[in-house]
Amino acid sequence: NQEKINELIEKRAKAKLGGGEKRIDSQHAKGKLTARERIDILLDEDSFEEFDMFVTHRTKSFGLDKQIYLSDGVVTGHGTIDGRIVYLFAQDFTVFGGSLSETYALKICKVMDMAMKIGVPVIGLNDSGGARIQEGVRSLAGYAEIFQRNIMASGVIPQISSILGPCAGGAVYSPALTDFTIMTEETSYMFVTGPKVVQTVTGEVVTTEQLGGAKIHSTRSGVSHFLAENDEENLLLVRKILSYLPSNNLEEAPVITCNDPIDRLEDALNEIIPENPNQPYDIVDVISILADNGEFTEVHRNYARNISVGFARFNGHPVGIVANQPKYYAGVLDIEASRKAARFVRFCDAFNIPIVTLVDVPGFLPGTGQEYGGIILHGAKLLFAYGEATVPKVTITLRKSYGGAHDVMSCKQLRGDVNYAWPTAEIAVMGAKGAVEVLEGSKIRKIEDAEEKQEFIQKKEDEYTQKFANPYEAAKYGFIDDVIEPRNTRFRIVRALELLQNKKEVNPPKKHSNIPL
Ligand code: COA
Repeated sequence: NQEKINELIEKRAKAKLGGGEKRIDSQHAKGKLTARERIDILLDEDSFEEFDMFVTHRTKSFGLDKQIYLSDGVVTGHGTIDGRIVYLFAQDFTVFGGSLSETYALKICKVMDMAMKIGVPVIGLNDSGGARIQEGVRSLAGYAEIFQRNIMASGVIPQISSILGPCAGGAVYSPALTDFTIMTEETSYMFVTGPKVVQTVTGEVVTTEQLGGAKIHSTRSGVSHFLAENDEENLLLVRKILSYLPSNNLEEAPVITCNDPIDRLEDALNEIIPENPNQPYDIVDVISILADNGEFTEVHRNYARNISVGFARFNGHPVGIVANQPKYYAGVLDIEASRKAARFVRFCDAFNIPIVTLVDVPGFLPGTGQEYGGIILHGAKLLFAYGEATVPKVTITLRKSYGGAHDVMSCKQLRGDVNYAWPTAEIAVMGAKGAVEVLEGSKIRKIEDAEEKQEFIQKKEDEYTQKFANPYEAAKYGFIDDVIEPRNTRFRIVRALELLQNKKEVNPPKKHSNIPL
């Protein structure tokens, strides 16, 4: 018996070495951790239980029958994060470059199936050279098996992808189908086709980093939701994100004890809106003042910065925050901002996370660039997402709320549950300047004297501002439930969320909606 036990111990030790010491050293030399080191950081101590350690590939050609590695390049299993169960797979670059074989895909599918059965998150640690070339179509089929599971799990259990090395070709689509992607600076990259193919097909010369590095995907493409400095930070971010999320779509998000007084008055908020309406301020400062302990986990921090989205807590309850950011492009809504916020709103709605919206939006960005890019459809995504969402929706209008953008930003008629405005709010069809140009244009053009013209414009703008640039027109019709003193806002949000805790709203039965894509 002891002999058999020793055999087991030996096999386990061998599996844990992955592709061997040399390749582990090379992994470390690249500034990367191994699959098992990563799991140790990600999970609670000693909570990991591995599955399928003895799985090997079935390929005989290309001399692969002589290259057998236990685990076959991916470490799978379950463990806990803050005491809650998660399933995971960690691709092991030291074995065939972490490339995906048929049996490797089956291992991933097994943990995904288990996670769905139990109703717990799946985390993928990606570091792979893509499809295992020697396995051909069987490898491609393996990817598709994973994609299908990603799709079925979407909106049912949270799915998070850490990108910790290469992720190229078909491999990119599993992370793309998941809820959040976190890339590590310098050591990770994602692209559909690599620099060599790009050069052959289009003649474009581009480096790996320029084409699909973590910075590019966190700023330009939005493929990556978070940017981490190294593997450790990446994995700790996964833990942090999960702390805001329920384990599945039938559960509520975890509530923690709140030591931050819910009724603290914040005089600073009474002063935070600048006198000059064209002067910016930082909406993240407002969020930090309002949220429990000033904590805000911003999603897509460096992408579409004219809108800020992320997770925070009020009285210990997680919420999703969507806030126009006047600091960048005056907080205007454009294609990227609309897509970013729409995806976040839909995520929160899928996982029962209430949405707090802070509005200060001058409108949609005008111009051919936006129109040709389909701002009509992209803007409609955000509108659709808010209108479809049945989670509690609390909206505070801080300053501007103009035109179509007013409607989009969780207005009353999109089933906004509680809509408050600060006295500094300006809720109208458009700003004074634009309105006067449209309404008084013909009169203005007839005035020849420049000084007289300017005086007339100023007078009309003042009249318009007086009449419309305030919250009371909207409050008059009940479109705003109350005009509140800014320093009370934290308390009013907490109370509104408490009130809405048992909110029940159901959309009509349908196969699925047809959101504009
Ligand atoms: N299939 C089979 N083996 C692969 C592989 C793949 N897709 N990708 C990498 N490997 C193997 C390499 O042959 C090498 O094996 P060895 O250690 O026995 O020599 C090992 O993994 C490490 O790869 P290497 O190329 O030395 O690492 P690198 O860090 O220099 O480069 C990549 C990494 C991913 C850029 C490079 O391996 C690559 O271009 N792979 C192919 C990517 C691809 O086109 N995949 C198909 C897309 S679906």
